[in-house]
Amino acid sequence: STPELAALSAAIRDVPDFPKPGILFKDITPILNDGALFQQTIDTLTAAAANHMPNKIVGIDARGFIFGAAVADRLGVGFVPMRKKGKLPWQTLSQSYALEYGEAILEVHEDAILPGERVVIVDDLLATGGTAAAAAQLISQLNADLASFIFLIELEALQGRDLLGETTITSLLRY
Ligand code: PRP
Repeated sequence: STPELAALSAAIRDVPDFPKPGILFKDITPILNDGALFQQTIDTLTAAAANHMPNKIVGIDARGFIFGAAVADRLGVGFVPMRKKGKLPWQTLSQSYALEYGEAILEVHEDAILPGERVVIVDDLLATGGTAAAAAQLISQLNADLASFIFLIELEALQGRDLLGETTITSLLRY
């Protein structure tokens, strides 16, 4: 761990019992609120993404948009939002995934990623891995090439990595 990563970790706020009892929520908004910390976070995420020479960055609804869009801008490549069901206006592909209770659906515009494009997925958090696995399945449905997953935070006890196959995974902070 570097002093830079320690400063990021110190800024993340643990909020007990949010959004429901028993959940300890990792609040990343203090990083966004601090210009130097936000810039440093995007520097590090961008360096990890650049290793994989992506043509597109995918960001996952909603906090993944904040980080993914900034990384795409730094690299000068397109940004693709994967959104929760019913939010995208054009023709979509859909993938369901398991939540703690029930399921959710992630969608992408069918023309947002071309066959053969190299894609990096960026999100704030890897927890159970269900969301990231659904994003990977959408990339596969589009016949594109998933180069890497990049997360700000990984909650190791939930073993989300185990759902993500052989694709390389970078997480900046692991708890
Ligand atoms: C959070 C987080 C990831 C996902 C990780 O998003 O931003 O996308 O959960 O969880 P998993 O690994 O168990 O699938 P959330 O669905 O809370 O949406 P939000 O960003 O809109 O709050």
